[in-house]
Amino acid sequence: MAITMSFGKGLLILLLTLVATLAISQAETVVVGGSEGWRYGYNYTDWALKHGPFFLNDTLVFRYPPPNDTVKPHSVYLLPNLYSFLTCDFKAATLVAPPNQGGGDGFSYTLSRVRPNYFASREGNGDDCTKGLMKFAAIPLYRPPFP
Ligand SMILES: *[C@@H]1O[C@H](CO)[C@@H](O)[C@H](O)[C@H]1NC(C)=O
Ligand SMILES: *[C@@H]1O[C@H](CO)[C@@H](O)[C@H](O)[C@H]1NC(C)=O
Ligand SMILES: *[C@@H]1O[C@H](CO)[C@@H](O)[C@H](O)[C@H]1NC(C)=O
Repeated sequence: MAITMSFGKGLLILLLTLVATLAISQAETVVVGGSEGWRYGYNYTDWALKHGPFFLNDTLVFRYPPPNDTVKPHSVYLLPNLYSFLTCDFKAATLVAPPNQGGGDGFSYTLSRVRPNYFASREGNGDDCTKGLMKFAAIPLYRPPFP
């Protein structure tokens, strides 16, 4: 009896470890916009629909060149709720990556909590968001342990 129980426990722990390992090892890194990067005029809502769903602990990478005489600045903000997202209202927004942070390998943001993440660029006095389509929502799901 005691042997059976400890065998059962051992198996359970093994299974749990396996599931946890799979869940962590499956976290993906996704470049926002793919080869388009994070730029004015690309439809990120459409991109997110086609490249989602996103899962907990996936990492989103925003790539945008640092601004200069010919390259306009972009940024990454998190908007607090659906309404501010729809209206591009940055009053209560949080800056997560300023214009100089998208160069090189880009700016990485890990979706570490199950909640909607409303991303948007604020540059050009908000034009990036209102006219340039530089916004999308990502709501990470729990990744199913087995595909
Ligand atoms: C996400 O990452 C955190 C920190 O590395 C880890 O504690 C957690 O178990 C992970 N969650 C999933 C679902 O992989
Ligand atoms: C962007 O894509 C979404 C989803 O496919 C679509 O509903 C929307 O009309 C598009 N916006 C523009 C300006 O093309
Ligand atoms: C501005 O940055 C772009 C992209 O990194 C680069 O190709 C271009 O040469 C730069 N222009 C100037 C004037 O520095």
